[in-house]
Amino acid sequence: MSDKKRETFGSKLGLVMATAGSALGLGNIYRFPCEAGANGGAAFLIVYLVMALLVGMPLMLAEFTIGRRSRSNAVGSFRKLSGEGKISIFNFQFSIWPLVGYLGVLCAFLILAFYTTVAGWTLGYLGKSAADHFSGQDLASIQQQFGDFTSHPWLPIVCQLAFLVLTAVVVMRGVKDGIERCSKILMPMLLVIMVVLCIKSLTLSGAGEGLRFFFKPDFSKITGRVILSALGQSFFSLSIGIGALITYGSYISRKDNMVSSAVGVALADTLVAVLAGVIIFPAAFSFGIKPEAGAALAFTTLPMVFQQMTGGYFFCLIFFLLLVIATLTSTISLLEVIVAALTEELRLSRTKAARVGAAATAVVGVLATMSFRPGSPLHIGASTVFDLLDHATALYMMPIGGLLIVLFVGWKMKRADVMAELTNDGALHAGIRKSIYFIIRYIAPVAIAVIFVSQMLMR
Ligand code: PFF
Repeated sequence: MSDKKRETFGSKLGLVMATAGSALGLGNIYRFPCEAGANGGAAFLIVYLVMALLVGMPLMLAEFTIGRRSRSNAVGSFRKLSGEGKISIFNFQFSIWPLVGYLGVLCAFLILAFYTTVAGWTLGYLGKSAADHFSGQDLASIQQQFGDFTSHPWLPIVCQLAFLVLTAVVVMRGVKDGIERCSKILMPMLLVIMVVLCIKSLTLSGAGEGLRFFFKPDFSKITGRVILSALGQSFFSLSIGIGALITYGSYISRKDNMVSSAVGVALADTLVAVLAGVIIFPAAFSFGIKPEAGAALAFTTLPMVFQQMTGGYFFCLIFFLLLVIATLTSTISLLEVIVAALTEELRLSRTKAARVGAAATAVVGVLATMSFRPGSPLHIGASTVFDLLDHATALYMMPIGGLLIVLFVGWKMKRADVMAELTNDGALHAGIRKSIYFIIRYIAPVAIAVIFVSQMLMR
């Protein structure tokens, strides 16, 4: 299949950085500590690591394979690769597999809606750190600031909309100029600042208790729900199960080594999540913040760490700036799933597609943001709209999407075609790639199905 006409990443580094940009974000620094805190700390970490390596990494490669083979968006790729098998209901004729792509596009849209709520907070916190709102404050005041900010009648909405506009502007500029350039320099900088934070957090008094919480497993805490949450978190964190990496895979050049790229990104992503845990839990225990604090955990613990540091003002400012950028490279990849599908399936221009995608997201996203106000009617049962979107996507849609993707690559595509992608038409050593194929075909689908179905039956 030809590389002509379609954009490709400028270099292998471009692919790694763009994929890492998509993977690294609030999922690592905000959602991972939240989930680990609520699901038993170390017990969650262990299951998470198994999921990321056993299911996450092979699924990344399955998505790259579909993307590069088809050179198409999340929907079109399934249409191109699944052949002509059509189902007809009444007078309607349609192929089943592209529905997996539509499910992915819908999921990207729903994730983007609640993700930009927290993305808006990062923008707000960047402003707060610039205005020096944290220096010299005690825990009560920092907790109060979080509550006041997230329940403010318009501020978090303005921040969220600003973030969406920023995302749309980068996506309009296209893959190479917009996405690749942003990621290349800034991701390594984020890593450096996180290491500095880690050192500070570990030297706080009472840090040991937090470390034990995060690293010393109590195996009795591993329940079916914890396993499903860890699976969902690994999908969320690695940006898999919704076609984001199919879309990015479609821009990979023929010469790139997808396997080493996927391994590199998965390891970097896991490292950043673990680092976030090592920053947040020791500090949280030291300050007396509960690990189950949920949405507030990162946004109260981190400002507390900064205000204990020499040069805290400066570090806080740089950190939130980098977090905004890490978040931006993730929202870009989410919007890109929608835009690639709209431009190629509905023939909209890139600019129009980005506008339509961002505007639709804004409508649902604002509801998620407003659901944080105390007494807000935006609840369904006991959950806020925000929680509902989070759970529906990470615990249900992503695992289902992921399952269908590995089934497609393992059972619908020809083995020779998959191996041709994994080995760059035989140019790369096949050994380990055969094992990856085996995992995609047998282990990953069984693992996802067993976890998912057993949880559904237990409800
Ligand atoms: N992986 C991103 C994070 O950890 O913040 C979130 C995300 C981006 C999920 C893109 C899914 C996706 F397609």
